[in-house]
Amino acid sequence: MQNVHKTPAVAATARKTRDLDTDLLIVPVFEHDDLSDEPDLDRAAGGAYAAARQRGEFGGKLFEQLLIPLTGGTVKASRALLIGAGPRGDVTTERLRRIASAGALAARQRRLASVSLLWRPVDGVATAPAAQALAEGAVLANYEGITYKTEGPGVAWLERVELRVGQVDDGIVERGRILGECTNMARALSNEPGNVLTPRAFAERASTLAKEAGLDVELLDEKQIADLKMGLLLGVARGSDQPPRVIVLRHRPKNARSGIVLGLVGKGITFDTGGISIKPAENMDKMKDDMSGGAAVIGAMIALARLEAPIACIGIVPATENMPGGRAMKPGDVLTSAEGKTVEVLNTDAEGRLILGDALWYARQMGVTHLIDVATLTGACVVALGKTTSGLFGRPAAWVEAVRRASDRAGDRSWPMPIFDDYKELLKSEIADFTNTGGRAGGAISAALFIKEFVGDLPWVHIDIAGTAWAEEAKPYQPKGATGVGVRTLAELALDVDAWSNL
Ligand code: BES
Ligand code: MN
Ligand code: ZN
Repeated sequence: MQNVHKTPAVAATARKTRDLDTDLLIVPVFEHDDLSDEPDLDRAAGGAYAAARQRGEFGGKLFEQLLIPLTGGTVKASRALLIGAGPRGDVTTERLRRIASAGALAARQRRLASVSLLWRPVDGVATAPAAQALAEGAVLANYEGITYKTEGPGVAWLERVELRVGQVDDGIVERGRILGECTNMARALSNEPGNVLTPRAFAERASTLAKEAGLDVELLDEKQIADLKMGLLLGVARGSDQPPRVIVLRHRPKNARSGIVLGLVGKGITFDTGGISIKPAENMDKMKDDMSGGAAVIGAMIALARLEAPIACIGIVPATENMPGGRAMKPGDVLTSAEGKTVEVLNTDAEGRLILGDALWYARQMGVTHLIDVATLTGACVVALGKTTSGLFGRPAAWVEAVRRASDRAGDRSWPMPIFDDYKELLKSEIADFTNTGGRAGGAISAALFIKEFVGDLPWVHIDIAGTAWAEEAKPYQPKGATGVGVRTLAELALDVDAWSNL
């Protein structure tokens, strides 16, 4: 496997545009923008921008691009990429992140290694979050999805990113850089084929990355999992020749907020065939990304360690394949969870909730006070919210809202869904405590209610990323494939402990 991402050096600067010594100036340009705040640029371009505007070649529409040579001799850089930012009043941090990504990607396509991104202040966006978003966006662009081609052009990486944001705290730029890097790590894990990223390989890779970042790592093997009586995880793992693992990562800083231990649990199905209730062949290959929730937890934990977040945090990723082997669990089988609850398996393709059940119980045994789980859990969530928005389920409402706000800052959109008790009868079983499937109607909600059975009385949020974990199409700001959704949401939430510590 080749390197699939590289984190550039990122620094803030307060220098004037004309003094930026770079391969490419990346300039966000709004609609109806006369660039009057950048007189150097205008002059050096020799009127090229005004002419393009007049001709209707470039009007500042979102992600529109115009490369102009800077030959006027008044600036150090030799060219500028104008990138459409849409109406000035619509600019948000998320839009800045995407603009930075699109601009940085365009630089890489031209094999330019150093860029300067200009921040042109707009109402409603403070400089610090803008700097963080620009850093994230630029780092996110330094990602390549293709790793197993034996031929093809060598990859050009961005080496140096300068953010012309004026005076900001270096910490905020570093925060953006690390969150971008950890998102790329999660993308790289999710894009790996299932034959490469087996549960054992996933655990080893996570362990190496986590140790480098200074996290405590514990990997539970099949024997330890059996000793803990995790019957739901073992039930799913039975159909595979690959043994399961549980990845446990701990961040325990000395200055941690007392009385709080955040528990992050991520679904780690390294390949989901559906098991005996097997999936159709079409698109089954996509199910190599069914460990994206686990990757998000691993990425977020690494970010927290690197940023020395002042909060104790435990990340737990149950990892297994879901295969239809000769010893596989069958529809109608009854499994007993580590907590002692019994489950009638009506559909072996509803495996995510099973492994999460045991992992959430385990998180509680470890003493967590607040729970979040992230999972590519249901096709029903994709039907409900589409491919751009993750579903949020949980209680109390204030905890759900804390997660929603974090996701908003992170640029991972999410929206709350109901978990009314009325839906619980969908999981009624004749012979066990409940079934693992509630049928098609309200399928994302009955899945969440199943998970709720394993979270005790703790504040808990379940994030269903089935629609958001994988991009079917490349966008100007995002490659096709794994998105790394969830990493920044979880990290932002943990970093903002002040906002929810008295929940
Ligand atoms: N991993 C899938 C969910 C999924 C579907 C993710 C599509 C991404 C895209 C999950 O394990 C699954 O198979 N869920 C079933 C549940 C059903 C059998 C109750 C589903 O959604 O169809
Ligand atoms: Mn499944
Ligand atoms: Zn699955």
